[in-house]
Amino acid sequence: MRNHDVPAPIRKAVFPVAGLGTRFLPATKAMPKEMLTVVDRPLIQYVVDEARDAGIEHFIMVTGRNKAVIEDHFDIAYELEATLKERNKTAALDGLRRDQVGGGEMTFTRQQEPLGLGHAVWCAREIVGNEPFAVILPDMIMRGETSCLDQMLKTYHETGGNLISVEECDPSETASYGIVGIGEAVGNAYRMTSMVEKPKPEDAPSNFYITGRYILQPEIFALLAEGRRGAGNEIQLTDAMLRLLETHPFYACPFRGRTYDCGSKLGFLAANVAFALERDELAADFAAEARALLEAAGR
Ligand code: UTP
Repeated sequence: MRNHDVPAPIRKAVFPVAGLGTRFLPATKAMPKEMLTVVDRPLIQYVVDEARDAGIEHFIMVTGRNKAVIEDHFDIAYELEATLKERNKTAALDGLRRDQVGGGEMTFTRQQEPLGLGHAVWCAREIVGNEPFAVILPDMIMRGETSCLDQMLKTYHETGGNLISVEECDPSETASYGIVGIGEAVGNAYRMTSMVEKPKPEDAPSNFYITGRYILQPEIFALLAEGRRGAGNEIQLTDAMLRLLETHPFYACPFRGRTYDCGSKLGFLAANVAFALERDELAADFAAEARALLEAAGR
């Protein structure tokens, strides 16, 4: 980006929610992974809130079979609302209304077959159009003073281009993650030089792993359209981003906060503990209960 250029605004966010969630079977046999709850809110609500708070105006859900409940979740539940009103459950009613998105702000499209994350993002191409956009993985939820997307957008306004959120992992654990190579610092971010899927510690270019938030230029769609298969015979977003990196600037944005990978059982359980401990009405009793359980289990 030349200094006098102002990067195009990020108005739309894509939420790929068409995966099978096999790591969470049988919970995900009939229910989408994205509706798993952390304390009392579905994962998908956390990420829609994050996007809305960061100023996103249009929410694009790429859904698959068995995902209709996500559409229902963001609809108005007239009977429920009438009953809550009748019973004077004002707080619950206000909560439901706060969680809703405005009319016409959410679009659903289908990925008929789960051919990979890259393919899911490509399925949103007509709705995104020719403008930069955000991708948010709903199974990664985050806790920080400000949200991850908000931090990324602040950087984007200075850098333009493509951005990927990253967090540092223990250098011995790089083989569990997608790892980025980094170059010079640019404000709070780094110029990104490479991306490697699950490298051994000795081959890893850094210990910054990809955490599930992206700002991408629309040129990614042409690369995804080629439908090249990668790891697991899936159309991988990482492969298309690697090719875009050859011609377009990419920046790695370290998130000032913590990411919980709720697609894994450990991350999901940790998120429940962390988010419960932040709820005023729950924290003290829950901490006492957790301590007693750990003590009883001799841990
Ligand atoms: P994951 O690989 O974590 O999700 O994809 P998964 O395939 O649902 O889960 P496991 O590994 O079998 O347990 C990250 C995100 O991308 C979406 C998923 O819904 C999830 O939110 N995704 C993945 C798609 O929308 N389509 C795909 O073909 C693959």
